[in-house]
Amino acid sequence: MKILSIETSCDDTGIAILEAKNNTFKILAEEVSSQIDIHAEFGGVFPALAKREHIKNLPIVLEKVLKKAKIKSAVSVDFIAVTVGPGLEPALWTGIVFAKELAEKWNVPIIPVNHMEGHVISVFADTKKSFKIPKVKFPALSLLVSGGHTELVLLKDWMKYTIIGETCDDAAGEAFDKVARMLGLPYPGGPQISKLAEIGRNKEKNSSITLPRPMMYSKNYDFSFSGLKTAVLYMLQKLEKLNEDMKIKIAREFEDAAVEVLTHKTLKAIHEYKIKTLIVAGGVSANKRLQKILKQKINKENKISKSKIEVLFPNKKLETDNAVMISLVGYFNQKKAIKKGFDKIKAIGNLSIGKIS
Ligand code: KG4
Ligand code: ZN
Repeated sequence: MKILSIETSCDDTGIAILEAKNNTFKILAEEVSSQIDIHAEFGGVFPALAKREHIKNLPIVLEKVLKKAKIKSAVSVDFIAVTVGPGLEPALWTGIVFAKELAEKWNVPIIPVNHMEGHVISVFADTKKSFKIPKVKFPALSLLVSGGHTELVLLKDWMKYTIIGETCDDAAGEAFDKVARMLGLPYPGGPQISKLAEIGRNKEKNSSITLPRPMMYSKNYDFSFSGLKTAVLYMLQKLEKLNEDMKIKIAREFEDAAVEVLTHKTLKAIHEYKIKTLIVAGGVSANKRLQKILKQKINKENKISKSKIEVLFPNKKLETDNAVMISLVGYFNQKKAIKKGFDKIKAIGNLSIGKIS
């Protein structure tokens, strides 16, 4: 079976073709056309521009992917999976409209997919070789950290999601992007902050400035990153001049603070829910500091309590938005395929995990 998937929830135009045979998967082709350069000018994603670029890029990306997968006739595609939310609605609609046109032309059903479920499953995918989905030990916990989301999701079983905590304001990635912008660093800010933070750690053993760790000790599993961002703003306002050294110090302390809050709450949830598998996904999962600290803490936990908590991160290529993850969710949601009446497939900007409509 072959599934063609389309992802346009933010600023990446992604299309992939997944082949599934006896529960073994192979990515026949996958492409992501990034709009980073276009949005960099605005310091963030500009929805109307994202829409325009997706419309322009979708046919080009499709042609590349079909060529790579050596698909000449549409008959060989069994389903089209498309992201319906969460995300920027004007961007989501471009993928949905494109999926509907293709599905009509090829006479194949559409599977609507939740983008966040895509991030969760992304940790199992491999773009280079065939792969199987391993047996996952439940309960699992997913720390989903991206430009639009920061949530802790409990998985009692496959596809059974409960959000136990989420951000009350900015998402973690959004905070990285906004702080980067304040420091005069280009979009997306995550990798830029990270680079400077690493320089800072090599220079000084301990951070010489202090930023708050908002909600770190609150009783629930919710997060807040807006206060941390504002604290950076106040710090900058007090400075006479922002030199390179100070940029490095702020980047380092900001990354430390964000990672500390994320890891503290994740570990707390691991204890309370007796978690056996931790899945970290979304763009911020690419953060090296977050990866290092989480792995260290889980290793320590496994030694002390003789538990065997497994921690999973996505393949490097699949950390940020891509269509590979959408094709996999599509495969597991074949029962939700829509054959006729595509009108009911709609973009839902604030779609919650575990829901497709
Ligand atoms: O999942 P994603 O590609 O798109 C959304 O669904 O939002 O995540 C993008 C976010 C951006 O905010 C970007 O700054 C952040 O992920 N990001 C990082 C790193 N790489 C990407 N944040 C921190 N450290 C990184 N290395
Ligand atoms: Zn995403």
